[in-house]
Amino acid sequence: LPRGITAWRGSLLYFTDDPGRAEHATRWHEDGLLVVEDGHVKAAGDYAALAATLPSEAVVQDRRGKLILPGFIDTHIHYPQTDIIASPAPDLLPWLNTYTFPAESRFRDVGRARETARFFLDELLRCGTTSAMVYCTVHPESVDAFFAESEARGTRMVAGKVLMDRHCPDFLRDTAEGGVRESEELIRRWHGCGRQMYVITPRFAPTSTPEQLQLAGELARAYPDVFIQTHVAESQEEVRWVKDLFPDARSYLDVYDGYGLLRERAMYAHCIWLDDDDRGRMTASGAAAAHCPTSNLFLGSGLFNFERADAAGMHLSLATDVGGGTSFSMLCTMNEAYKVARMGGTYLPARRMFYLATLGGARSMGLEGVIGGFAPGCEADFIVLDPKATPLLARRTAQTDDLEELLFALAMLGDDRAVAETYIKGELACAQTTPEP
Ligand code: GUN
Ligand code: ZN
Repeated sequence: LPRGITAWRGSLLYFTDDPGRAEHATRWHEDGLLVVEDGHVKAAGDYAALAATLPSEAVVQDRRGKLILPGFIDTHIHYPQTDIIASPAPDLLPWLNTYTFPAESRFRDVGRARETARFFLDELLRCGTTSAMVYCTVHPESVDAFFAESEARGTRMVAGKVLMDRHCPDFLRDTAEGGVRESEELIRRWHGCGRQMYVITPRFAPTSTPEQLQLAGELARAYPDVFIQTHVAESQEEVRWVKDLFPDARSYLDVYDGYGLLRERAMYAHCIWLDDDDRGRMTASGAAAAHCPTSNLFLGSGLFNFERADAAGMHLSLATDVGGGTSFSMLCTMNEAYKVARMGGTYLPARRMFYLATLGGARSMGLEGVIGGFAPGCEADFIVLDPKATPLLARRTAQTDDLEELLFALAMLGDDRAVAETYIKGELACAQTTPEP
C-alpha cells in the first residue's frame, strides 16, 4: 500500500548551490510547503502554489512560524569518543594517548559499542543531524554495532573501521593485511545495505605503515563508490612527525596522494596546515575538506584558512569531530566556524554556513540529490527549527524580518534547543515536545 502524501507548512530553506560562490543559490519560501511521498520529497515551494496540487486526502502539518530545512550533515565525527567529549589536554597527540586510545579500547565489548551507538545516534538526531561520516574503532564489531543501530532508525550513515597498525597501543593495533581484509568484509556486509554506506578509514598517516596505506589505496580502487576518510594537517606537531615518517613525500597530503587515497568520496578532516599546492590537489582530485572548528579551537590545532580554500575552489563541508570537538550541534559548529573565518579575514554569511551544514556536506560526499536538499526525489530527512526556542532567540529574532539576520541569530544563539523536530524519510524521529497535529 502506498503510504500517501504528507505535507509540512512552514518557512522552507534549502540550497541549490554554494551561496559563497554562486548567485541565486538560496531557496527561501517564507510561507512554504514541503510535500513528502513514500519518504521522498515530492515538491517544495510556496504554499499558495502547491496547496492546490495536493490530493484531498493529503495531511498538512502546520509549522508556521518555524523553519523547515534539510537535516544537517556532519562529515567527520567519532562515535566511540562520545564518552570523552570535553576531556582536557594540551595538544592533539597527548589527547589521543591520554583519553582517546583508552576509550576506544572499550569497544572490544559489543554491548558497550551497541549502547554507545544508540546514545550517539539519539544525540545526533536531537541536534538535527540526520547523516554523518563516522569513525568506529579498530574492532570490526564496533562497525556492526553502529550500522545495526543506524539501520534500526533508518538513518543514512557512512561509517568505517579504523585502520591502525603502528604507533598505537598493542590492544588497538591491527595488521596491514588483516585490517584491510576486515574492511572488505564490512564493505560486503554493509555498503549499500539499506541506507548504510562504508568508508575506508586509515586513522591518519602516523598510525598506518606504508604497507597498510598501500593496501587501503588498492581497496579504494577496487570499490570506487565506497568512501575514504582520514585526518590531515591538523596540528603542527603532527605535521613534523609525518615529515620524519615519510621523508620522501612533498607534504603531509602528498603521503595520501601517493597511495591513491585522494579522489571523489574522500573526506579529509582539518586541512589546516596545507599549502596552496595541496589545496590545488584537493580540488583537482575531488576530495573534500571537513572543517572542524570546535575541535580545532579546543585542541589548539590552528585556524582553517577559508580564503585560501576558496581561492583554490576546494570542496568544503562542516563537521563536529566529537570527541575532539566540543558539541554535537551543527549550529554551535557554525558559530565557531564563523569566528575562525573572521580571524582569517573572511566573512562567512549565515546562508553559507547553513549551506555547508546541508547541501555542502552532501556534495562533499557525492550525495547531492540523495540528502542535503529538497529537490524532488531527495530522501525526506528534514528538521524543524524554532526561532523562538529560547527567550533570547525569541527576543532577538523578533527584531528582524531579514532572512540573513534570522539565520545568523540561529547560528550564533542556537543549539540543540532550537531543533524542534527531526524527521527521517518523512517519519518523526525526535521531537523536543510532542508536536501538535
Ligand atoms: N588524528 C588522529 N586521530 C584523531 C582523532 O581521533 N581525533 C582528532 N581530532 N584527530 C586525530
Ligand atoms: Zn577526527
